[in-house]
Amino acid sequence: MESIQAIKQRFGIIGNTPTLNRAIEKAIQVAPTDISVLVTGESGVGKESIPKIIHQLSHRKHNKYIAVNCGAIPEGTIDSELFGHEKGAFTGATQTREGYFEVADGGTIFLDEVGELPLTTQVRLLRVLENGEFLKVGSSKVQKTNVRIVAATNVNMFEAIEKEKFREDLYYRLSTVDINLPPLRERQDDIHLLFRKFASDFALKYKMPTVKLTDSAVQVLTKHRWNGNIRQLRNIAEQVSVLEQNRTISAETLNGYLPASTTNLPAVIKTSKSKSDFSSEREILYKVLFDMKSDLSDLKKLTMELMKNGNTKDVEKKNESLIQKIYGDDDDDIHDFEESVTNTELLSIPEHTSKIEEPMSTQDKYHFAEEIEEEETLSIHDKELELIKKSLERHSGKRKLAAAELGISERTLYRKIKQYDL
Ligand SMILES: Nc1ncnc2c1ncn2[C@@H]1O[C@H](COP(=O)(O)OP(=O)(O)OP(=O)(O)O)[C@@H](O)[C@H]1O
Ligand SMILES: [Mg+2]
Repeated sequence: MESIQAIKQRFGIIGNTPTLNRAIEKAIQVAPTDISVLVTGESGVGKESIPKIIHQLSHRKHNKYIAVNCGAIPEGTIDSELFGHEKGAFTGATQTREGYFEVADGGTIFLDEVGELPLTTQVRLLRVLENGEFLKVGSSKVQKTNVRIVAATNVNMFEAIEKEKFREDLYYRLSTVDINLPPLRERQDDIHLLFRKFASDFALKYKMPTVKLTDSAVQVLTKHRWNGNIRQLRNIAEQVSVLEQNRTISAETLNGYLPASTTNLPAVIKTSKSKSDFSSEREILYKVLFDMKSDLSDLKKLTMELMKNGNTKDVEKKNESLIQKIYGDDDDDIHDFEESVTNTELLSIPEHTSKIEEPMSTQDKYHFAEEIEEEETLSIHDKELELIKKSLERHSGKRKLAAAELGISERTLYRKIKQYDL
């Protein structure tokens, strides 16, 4: 039997945490049997290498290995993909087609995201698992196949069973052996090891020197929560490798690439949509709302000027900054950065030099309108200020990242920072 170390090398698996070693050991042990295996673990922990190990170490290795992403196939076609169909079974079925279970006879099928299978497909799958029998879609002829199934899921299957989205009998049939892969935050000793491996791979790929972390950056790396696990770590290693000129990465630089407040401290693990998702959605809505309100308030001011003055040229001249703010914000030319800062102050509307005689009632009406406007603008500004502050905090003052999060250009953010004196 191949050793765990040899398997890791062969399948490019990095890490030495006992729980990872245990998972690989289990895969090696069950490989020669035909037992169904369910691989569990959060998204990005590396579940996809387990079925490959199982297939390669089994007597099926010379036959087909087919990986099917159950979540990516539309519900209407999944039965036909898996079990095939007869000619004329449905509109467009012009030919008889073999499904994966027929093609992979003698081999292994990896059913990724098995929790996404529709209930009707689950019934068909249960039958194959129990006696190797299946029917093509549109056929009544029972066919036989000899396929080994390894499934994987990152969803809580008990919850799915509870909600009647997954058949309990199928779950037990699939998970004769359960191989669980630990989340990255529980593999602290492996984090830096993985980063170094990815950094060296990307250095080779992009023909650049390998990035290195300072000691404090290593601390940041290992304390991070890594909700996206190894996939997220790999992405960050790639970003840092490509974008950083200075190849020695400080904690501060690294922090700029990490989503905020996800250090590896005890925290409630999200199982479903949590409050924080909701609050960030709310923040986005606030942002859209304050942008709209601010535009509206600017337009109101302009309209009022036009009504009072009548002369378009004068109004244009007087409200140059306002017009620029409303209409001229899309040309993200970094050269006129400074200029736009002074040009686009939200409240820098010139006072009305209202020498023109107006009937009292109209003046009153405008006066009233302006008061409301000012109040609205103030609360909008508070909200905006809060959003900007939070975003800058989250990204340790990195404007580029904050601007991306807020959905505004860096220039606009720069302008607002000046405006609020941040
Ligand atoms: N131990 C490891 N060593 C090196 N690379 C790894 C390791 N584990 C995972 N990876 C890499 O991390 C990425 C994510 O792994 P994988 O696709 O297997 O995740 P997964 O568990 O299937 O996630 P999901 O549930 O989202 O499908 C892949 O690029 C994979 O090569
Ligand atoms: Mg996967």
